[in-house]
Amino acid sequence: MIRMFITIEGPDGSGKSTLVKSLKNQLGNVLKNKKIVFTREPGGTDFANKIRNYLLNENMGDLEEAYLFAAARANHVRKLIIPNLRLGNIVISDRFLDSSIAYQGFGRLLGEEVVTNINKYAVENCIPDLTIFLTIDPQLGINRIKKNRVNEMNRLDNESVEFYRRVLNGYNSLALNDDRNRIVTIDASQSKESVLNEAVNVILERIKKLNI
Ligand code: TYD
Repeated sequence: MIRMFITIEGPDGSGKSTLVKSLKNQLGNVLKNKKIVFTREPGGTDFANKIRNYLLNENMGDLEEAYLFAAARANHVRKLIIPNLRLGNIVISDRFLDSSIAYQGFGRLLGEEVVTNINKYAVENCIPDLTIFLTIDPQLGINRIKKNRVNEMNRLDNESVEFYRRVLNGYNSLALNDDRNRIVTIDASQSKESVLNEAVNVILERIKKLNI
């Protein structure tokens, strides 16, 4: 089965959404003969979008939050990601399991093991082939959120700098322990154009290696 599952990760304010938007334009032009499906978490399906709405607006305990992200993911994996990979499409998801490890495991202090276990049956064998991790100084990230999101702040945008520091540590730890060469770290303090160029190059290089 030809499959290419790519995830884009990073703390809030890392410019992830801007990168995803630009990737849509750029990759569509370069990979004309491949279907690229863009999706995001939490979300991607009707069911997961309902959970998204709840997650971003209601207060809840940390464990409940971790289970809801996993429930949304279970549906996303089964209804959208796997069916598209089976068709031979490229799937690019704005956030996936690493977000839960970083935010719930490290940010909320539930621990990596607990969050990995909660997600075990949700992701099954659906592990990304490539993850682009945008790294950013937590304070710089918060400043960017405040500047860009005055009208659309959600519950998770109001966390402290300590929270984002833990989230970043979580991502760093995942990158450090990545023994499959899955995670590629890009410095998100660079210009938008440089981040986009680096990301496009990495993606095209991996696709070439898979020879699809
Ligand atoms: P969103 O508005 O999509 O933010 P972003 O553009 O940064 O992705 O909100 C998603 C929020 O949910 C974001 O703060 C990260 C958080 N999140 C988790 O805490 N755990 C998860 O597993 C996922 C997928 C997201």
